[in-house]
Amino acid sequence: MSKAFYLETFGCQMNVVDSEQIADLLGGLGYIQVDSAEQADLVLLNTCSVRDKAERRVYGHLGRFKPIKDQRPALMIGVGGCVAQQEGERMLEKVKYLDFVFGTHNIHRLPELVQQVEERRKRGSLTEFLDRDTRLDLFPERTFRDTVTRFVTVMQGCDNFCSYCIVPHVRGREISRPSGEILAEIRQLVEQGVREVTLLGQNVNSYGIKDPGEISFSELLRRVNAIDGLERIRFATSHPKDMTDELIDCFGELEKLCKHIHLPLQSGSDRILKLMNRGYTAADYLNKVARLKSVCPEIRLTTDIIVGFPGEAEEDFLATLDVVKQVEYADAYTFLFSPREGTAAANFSDDQSSMQKQERFDRLLAVQQHNSSVAWRADLDTVQSILVEGSSKQGQGQLFGRTTWNRVVNFAGPETLIGQTVPVKIIKVMTNSNLGELAHQ
Ligand code: SAH
Ligand code: SF4
Ligand code: F3S
Repeated sequence: MSKAFYLETFGCQMNVVDSEQIADLLGGLGYIQVDSAEQADLVLLNTCSVRDKAERRVYGHLGRFKPIKDQRPALMIGVGGCVAQQEGERMLEKVKYLDFVFGTHNIHRLPELVQQVEERRKRGSLTEFLDRDTRLDLFPERTFRDTVTRFVTVMQGCDNFCSYCIVPHVRGREISRPSGEILAEIRQLVEQGVREVTLLGQNVNSYGIKDPGEISFSELLRRVNAIDGLERIRFATSHPKDMTDELIDCFGELEKLCKHIHLPLQSGSDRILKLMNRGYTAADYLNKVARLKSVCPEIRLTTDIIVGFPGEAEEDFLATLDVVKQVEYADAYTFLFSPREGTAAANFSDDQSSMQKQERFDRLLAVQQHNSSVAWRADLDTVQSILVEGSSKQGQGQLFGRTTWNRVVNFAGPETLIGQTVPVKIIKVMTNSNLGELAHQ
């Protein structure tokens, strides 16, 4: 009988890509993937530690597996990802029924960890960081997935050390993949039926900067744009300080590049931006937005904002609201500041009450909800090009795809359309998605 694993993934797209590698490695050990812990011989969590809430969820989830393990002591439990990287051995001490922990640079050694538990019930933890060359040598091959869209890693890690952020501590230093490899991988994916790629990195704008002779991120985009059979390109995430004019121009020049950019603002106050170590002012940010809108008038922006950063005063918060009003983001992901152990901001003094922070958070949300509804309602009764990604969860005969702005649209149509770009008239706008109907070409 074959063995089964259950895998849950938290956090950002980096973890989604890592989970593909985890699934492939376990497949190599003879494991098949199942969708509940109850059916599994091995349970894995791929974790995120970006905010305290995310980290607490890991312990909450592990708690859910304990009764299963009490009943079935042979069950193996492992934790990977950013919490694993940060906690390492400490996790094994805290959670007695946990079998192994593997950090963000040690996914390739998962088979060893699993086998030593299978054979000798030996617990283990691997969290060493690898150097650049070893990491590039170990880059996993992409295996076939029957999907229209795929993530493609272009760089890993982060050198920015924004004062609030755990990512550089849990993902290590920035490493860019050679452009030749990235392009070959995308060509291979397109041959397998992929029509849209999202180029991934914590800060794609600094792609290649540390590698003499490597092309810039804008040049990489141009070369990806030239790949026959590919329909759409997206990328995430962009750091405003590293967004060059050349990259902005790509939005006016490259027909496959979607007209959407996620450009984290974090704060609209120069004083707070400085404390955050972001490397730009609100005026720098607004200038880049103005250039983006001038080269590509249809572009829509989304952003991340932190409310309640240590020392944030009412005037700092008002400066953030002001930028939000000016940019008119289509969506904003807003977070309450969460101190992370080991980051600079965790030690900054803070005199705001949690009530004050929550009140500001709610005010920001109200402004953004208004902006979002204006942005999305503008699509009502228009016809949009939709890349059909698959059958919708909504029900029988329903398909789903996205607009260039990354908005999900559900509509009725035959499955033969999956992988094609079709015109769809938007007939209803809802909070998180739109409803459409096929329009005649
Ligand atoms: N590399 C990406 C984002 C990584 S984390 C970038 O640079 O934009 C995703 C978002 O989580 C961040 O943009 C930030 O808004 C938020 N975040 C990160 N650390 C946080 C913290 N300590 N408290 C609250 N929000 C945080
Ligand atoms: Fe974190 Fe800043 Fe790096 Fe983004 S750029 S991952 S926010 S340190
Ligand atoms: Fe979370 Fe790690 Fe991504 S901390 S946001 S999963 S890099």
